[in-house]
Amino acid sequence: MKKFAQVFDNNMKNFINLDEIPAKDLRKIIFDAKRRKNLRKKLNTLEVDKGAPLKGKLLIQMFEKTSLRTRLSFYLAIKQLGGSTLTLRADELHMSGGGESIEDTAKILSTFGNAFMLRTDSDKKLEDFKRYLSIPIINGLSPSSHPTQILSDVFTVEEIKKKSISNLNITWIGDSNNVLNSLIMASVKFSFKLNIGCPKNYRPKENILTYINNNKNKISFFSDAKKAVNGADVIFSDKVISMNDKVNKKKKLNEFKKFKIDEELMSFAKSDCIFLHCLPRGSEVDEKVFSSKKSKVWQQAMNRVHVQKSILLYCFGKLR
Ligand code: CP
Ligand code: NVA
Repeated sequence: MKKFAQVFDNNMKNFINLDEIPAKDLRKIIFDAKRRKNLRKKLNTLEVDKGAPLKGKLLIQMFEKTSLRTRLSFYLAIKQLGGSTLTLRADELHMSGGGESIEDTAKILSTFGNAFMLRTDSDKKLEDFKRYLSIPIINGLSPSSHPTQILSDVFTVEEIKKKSISNLNITWIGDSNNVLNSLIMASVKFSFKLNIGCPKNYRPKENILTYINNNKNKISFFSDAKKAVNGADVIFSDKVISMNDKVNKKKKLNEFKKFKIDEELMSFAKSDCIFLHCLPRGSEVDEKVFSSKKSKVWQQAMNRVHVQKSILLYCFGKLR
């Protein structure tokens, strides 16, 4: 049987991992997001951007894992560009229990929709969908990465610090998870200094360490959280236990005890250091830090809308 393979309009692009996207395109997305955010200052939530660049377009979203921010921000992003969105429940599709193939599912998605955003529990599924879709696919979080979150976070850092991230010291305190993997890729793409503080036995997987070694990088590892935050302009963190993390939770939380972000740890960073967290949070950050002026987590969450609009435009080949 003849396979249906991706027949892609030349202008269209996928957004799966930051390492596959040229740095100049990532920069273009951030630039466009900044411009669009400024232009929206007087507009209400659902008012459409001038020119409605994605008028008539349908973004299909599917979540195999829970989500609050990604779901809402993609909804607003496509709406503000003049399009619309439909969210599918993975457990209601034949693909989940009824045995329909990814190939056939992808063909139907491509027939009815114009782009597909997938939050998945399998990196292979992203690749399989990519193979069979003829519309762009966006990675809305996978076990190994969370690229839309991190590109938006680069935007937030530059918005608050008012300088290029390549001139800032970024520190990650926490687990070596999907969000950190994307931050590592961003560090290579945008050429910023990245200190990673975590217990030695929780450093990234071999393929990520190989990626770091194979690319010109400014990345260092620390087993002492205080040394990792020394001189930091920004401290990032995330939950110690990620969704579907199949570990001994009590043991892991215990091993991360010395990596809690509290006021004492913040005092080792620069005095104007900010705290960012993709949310939802766990016990890795102290309430005092989380609710302090240094914490910019709500601004960070809202910026997902602005950056994802420009990611959508990039995928549709409509970024100016
Ligand atoms: N940060 C983030 O992706 O949040 P959700 O899991 O709520 O989408
Ligand atoms: N590392 C977290 C990110 C949640 C947005 C997880 O995968 O659960």
